Amino acid sequence: MASKATTSPDRSWMETPPLSPTIRHLNGELLAHMPWLDKISSPLRGLVHKVFGQPGQVSYKIKDILNGVWLGHAVHPVFVTIPLGSWSASTLLDIVWLADEDDGIARGADLTLWLGIAGAAASAVTGLSNWVDTDGAEQRMGMLHALLNTGILSLDVVSAILRLTGQRRTAITLASSAYALSLYSAYLGGELSYSSGIGVNHVAWEGGSDDFVAVMDEAALEPGKLTRVDVVGIPAVVVRDGKAIYAMAATCSHLAGPLDEGRLENGIVYCPWHNSGFRLCDGSVANSPAIYAQPTFAVRIRNGKIELRRLEHA
Ligand code: FES
Repeated sequence: MASKATTSPDRSWMETPPLSPTIRHLNGELLAHMPWLDKISSPLRGLVHKVFGQPGQVSYKIKDILNGVWLGHAVHPVFVTIPLGSWSASTLLDIVWLADEDDGIARGADLTLWLGIAGAAASAVTGLSNWVDTDGAEQRMGMLHALLNTGILSLDVVSAILRLTGQRRTAITLASSAYALSLYSAYLGGELSYSSGIGVNHVAWEGGSDDFVAVMDEAALEPGKLTRVDVVGIPAVVVRDGKAIYAMAATCSHLAGPLDEGRLENGIVYCPWHNSGFRLCDGSVANSPAIYAQPTFAVRIRNGKIELRRLEHA
């Protein structure tokens, strides 16, 4: 028999975690009882935003690089594979070493442990750069993910040092504990991506008409004003910049913010939520946190009407 929904509309996901499967429910309950994570998040977010500065500044370029604007893809999940793969290998090699204490196996375990530590450091900075532009439940979960990863990295660094001093069995205990924690942390990372959509393209499924569609009177379009229109179910933003008229999807590819409520500066549309910038001319990303281009539209004027037709991505 189908269970009746008991959630209240004025309660957030954090207060009403999913009922099943059990691991998601328990994870939601855990997060619901960790409001202190928000107290850490706020000042840390403020600090990271201060360090990166504003779009156009050199420091913000570093954020763009860490987010993956240059790659057209999130960089964090690329680096994440390094510690997870390396630490899986070092855990296996540690188990083998416990059986026969072979020096070659020990060297292999140490090398893969250090490789994982290097990859984890790269994952941390790219993850921080993603996390700083999240909100609410995702920000809290991201904070727990980050704290766990910091603990895991610390345990592995201590383990690596102990190995240098000959205390291999203690080192293996620490690294094994860290590995177990890393599996839970990886689960949190997966929840953030696959369930909450952090790092995914929020306009990946937006289609659009292959034919031109009339959306508004040309005379009604004020110069420089971001104007929301509907293109057979797809929200778009139309703007007159100089003599030209441009149009792109109104839903921000970062986290679906409304671009028509943003601002236009020097041919770039800035999202009101986290300041992603998209070039009017082709929808390409001018600055992060977005890393995916906005879908754009061909524009023509017929009988005093602005007509749009969906183009392919930049
Ligand atoms: S929703 Fe985050 S920048 Fe647009």
